[in-house]
Parts: sequence; C-alpha cells; structure tokens
Amino acid sequence: MPIKRKNLPLLESVTIIDAGAEGQAIAKADELVLFVQGAVPGDVVDVQLTRKKKNYAEGRVTRICVPSEKRTLPFCEHFGVCGGCKWQNLGYEWQLHYKQKQVGDTLKRIGKIEFPELLPIIAAPKQRNYRNKLEFTFSNKMWMTNEEIQSGKSFDNRNALGFHIPKMFDKILDIKNCYLQSEPSNSIRLALKEFALKNDLSFYDIRAHTGLLRNIIIRTTSTNELMLIVCFGEQDDANIEKVLTFLAHEFPQITSLMYTINLKMNDTISDQVIIAHSKKDHIIEEMEGLKFKISPKSFYQTNSEQAYMLYKIVREFAGLSGTEVVYDLYTGTGTIANFISGQAKKIVGVEYIPDAIEDAKNNSLLNSITNTRFYAGDLKDVLNDAFVKQNGHPDVIITDPPRSGMHENVVNKILEINPDRIVYVSCNPATQARDILPLSSKYRVSKIQPVDMFPHTHHVENVVLLDSLKV
Ligand SMILES: C[S@@+](CC[C@H](N)C(=O)[O-])C[C@H]1O[C@@H](n2cnc3c(N)ncnc32)[C@H](O)[C@@H]1O
Repeated sequence: MPIKRKNLPLLESVTIIDAGAEGQAIAKADELVLFVQGAVPGDVVDVQLTRKKKNYAEGRVTRICVPSEKRTLPFCEHFGVCGGCKWQNLGYEWQLHYKQKQVGDTLKRIGKIEFPELLPIIAAPKQRNYRNKLEFTFSNKMWMTNEEIQSGKSFDNRNALGFHIPKMFDKILDIKNCYLQSEPSNSIRLALKEFALKNDLSFYDIRAHTGLLRNIIIRTTSTNELMLIVCFGEQDDANIEKVLTFLAHEFPQITSLMYTINLKMNDTISDQVIIAHSKKDHIIEEMEGLKFKISPKSFYQTNSEQAYMLYKIVREFAGLSGTEVVYDLYTGTGTIANFISGQAKKIVGVEYIPDAIEDAKNNSLLNSITNTRFYAGDLKDVLNDAFVKQNGHPDVIITDPPRSGMHENVVNKILEINPDRIVYVSCNPATQARDILPLSSKYRVSKIQPVDMFPHTHHVENVVLLDSLKV
C-alpha cells in the first residue's frame, strides 16, 4: 500500500545517475529507485518524496546542492511552467546521449535480443523553431505563475492564449514567446490576442462552454506557405468576420486562412466542417521535388526537416532495387509510400483514418505516381491472406505504428508473411522492443538508427532494420 504523502521523507544530497524513459531523472537511495522531477543527470539534489512504493519512489527537487556539469541555462521564459521542452536545462549533446542510451537500454531490457551497436543518433540541425504545427488555446482562466501571484498586481482580466498546463485541462499558460515555430507564429498569436482584448471579444470558458475565441492552429511549410485555422466557440457571424478580416489584412503571409465553429464539448476539429475564408484551402509541402498537399485535418510529421532525414533512412534500410512489392503499414497520409515509390515496383499503404487515405491517394495523383495502392482499415483486420493474395507478397514491410506499437495479431501476421526485410519506425522504443521480441524468431536486427525529431524533449524516434533469417 502506498505510504501517505504527508509522512514521506525529504532525502538530502541525492546524486542523479541517469535519465530514463519519459525523460525522468533517476537516482538510487535507500535501496529504492527514485524518479525525480526537475533534475538532470549529475545533479546532487534534495528530494521531497511524493510517492513511495515497494521498489521505487517518486519525488521532486527542493534544492539543487551541486548543479550538474551537463546543465545549461534554459532559453525560454516559460521553462518549468509550460509542459513542452522540458529538457531545455540539459545541454543538447547530453540530450542526444541520453536518447541514444534510452533506445539501447530499452531494446536490451524489453527486446532481450542480440543486436548490433546502435548507429549514432542523428541530431536535429535546427534545435529551435523546428515544428511546422502548433495549437494555441484561448481561455478566460489564465494560469498564474508564483511570481505573478506574489507580484501583488491585480489580475481581474485572466484572458490567456497559449498552452495547457500539464494535467490541468482548464488552465492555460499565456505564452509571450514560443521557440517551437518560426515567425510569424508568435506575431500572429500576440496580434490576435491584442485585437481580441481591444475589441472585447470573449475568450473560451472551458467549464461553461461559452466564449467566441477557442483555439488557433498554425501550420507552416518549408516552401513558406502558412495555414491558420481559427476555431470559434460561438456562432457570432459579425465578430467572426471581424477577426478573420483582421488576420487576412494584418498577415498577408497567410496562404490559407480557415475557420470552424466548434460548438462541441471537446476541442478536436477532425469531425468539424472547416471553411476557407481567404486564399487556398490547403498548403503544399515539398520533399525531393515531390509535393504533399496538407489539408486542415491532414497529418504531416511535425518536424519537416527531420522527417526527410527519417524517410531517407527508411528508404536506405528498405534496400530497394525497383523490383520489390513493399507494404507501408500505418501509412498516415502515405508520405513514406509516395516518397519511396520511385524505387519499388509497387507500394501498398494501409491506415485506419479514411481521410488520410484520401490524402495519400491525392498525393500520388498530384505527383503522377501510379504504383501505389492505399486502403483504409484497422491493420489487425485488413492484413490477412486475402489482402496478401490481392496485393502480392511483400518483399519488404515498412511499419510506423503509433506509440502503442503494433497489435499482436499484426506482429503474428507479419511473421507468417515473412518478408525479406522489415523496417520498423517507432516513436516509442518500449513498444518497438516489445514487438521485436517475437519477430526475432525469424529475423535478426541488422541496424538501429535513432533520430532526434524533437529537441529539448525526451522523445526519440528509432528506425530498426530486421533481416529475415531465411535469406
Ligand atoms: C506514427 S503515424 C505514421 C505516420 C506516417 N508513416 C508518416 O510518416 O506520415 C501512425 C499512423 O497509424 C495510424 N493507425 C493507428 N492505429 C492504427 C490501426 N490499428 N490500423 C491502421 N492504422 C492505424 C494512425 O492514424 C497514424 O496515421
């Protein structure tokens, strides 16, 4: 039984020895493994325990006794309050080191298989402003920082436009400057907030479900196109037009100004009608001369530069000569399938979101690609003997599942199909290792390539090449 919080001890001078999964700092004390918030490896800290179980405990730093040499000064004023970029206090080289280590440790611990030395993690060339998509939320319940509370200033107006405070659905941190997306992302957010305040437009109240301004989503491309989606929470046509006219006039860089009126309880817009107010209803991203149409609801990897890097590794690991049938499982909008289409005989993509499959087909059409086929459906149902008979036995299977990994039926079916090579792309080394374990009965792990897609977070992408033992 967990020990009650108020009786939990404060541990003094604890040395942080590692960074584990989910980016937690790890220490050992009193025969317990400690997961500590607010520390980096090498720190010596005092830790207030917040939870204690039989083999492990959790705690937070109350004092840094000796700061680690691996520390660096966070560059963002919102560091420590905002939920993003939690590793800003760890030098970038060390972030890479611990991401690489996390992949190796996880494969060893969960995959329990023989594997070659990992290839060195590919660093992100841009460590700031690397995201092509950000969502900001309006709220009339601004999160107050300790400094703001202690400043004694009055905060009658608690309107905010920014990010959710972790684990608090109704509290929004007002963002002054965010380093995740290049300009004019910050300018648009700040100008819109100022316009709303000046014109007395209401900010959304998530508890009462009232208020005109609800969210904005900003999407950019390497070709300098920019989509802004404004989500309104009320059907107030006059003020909606006022907001959109202001944005179109003030930011001519916007190449696609879209809006939706979302009267539902939740913020998701995937089930909403999204209307083009001015200019195009999509933006176009480019990669090696291929064009990818991105509609408001389309998925596209959020770090375009590193996505290109990732896809090049996938293509290299797939070892294509032009004669192969390739399955691209969890294809999303078919970006990998279209990207490698010039190097294979036929690519078959599967994905369970029908709209994404439409995008995938349209992207093939847009690029005059004729050797791709796309199917919408849940992989555990779609990938069966009839499917293989219809589409041809794959020489290579590329799989890029969500964080939860592959369903065990999918893993078993892949084993049965037994392609020459499997290229497994994952954003979660733990589920990747879990899935590789059964695959290792017929495959050997030949290459492992971690890629850093998200600097200053603990997230790591990993590509594994599995070669069939039959060849
Ligand atoms: C990591 S994304 C893959 C993205 C894609 N490869 C790309 O690079 O753009 C995983 C995709 O799997 C899809 N997905 C999740 N569960 C699925 C399932 N059971 N069957 C089919 N697709 C699924 C998601 O909708 C998502 O598009």
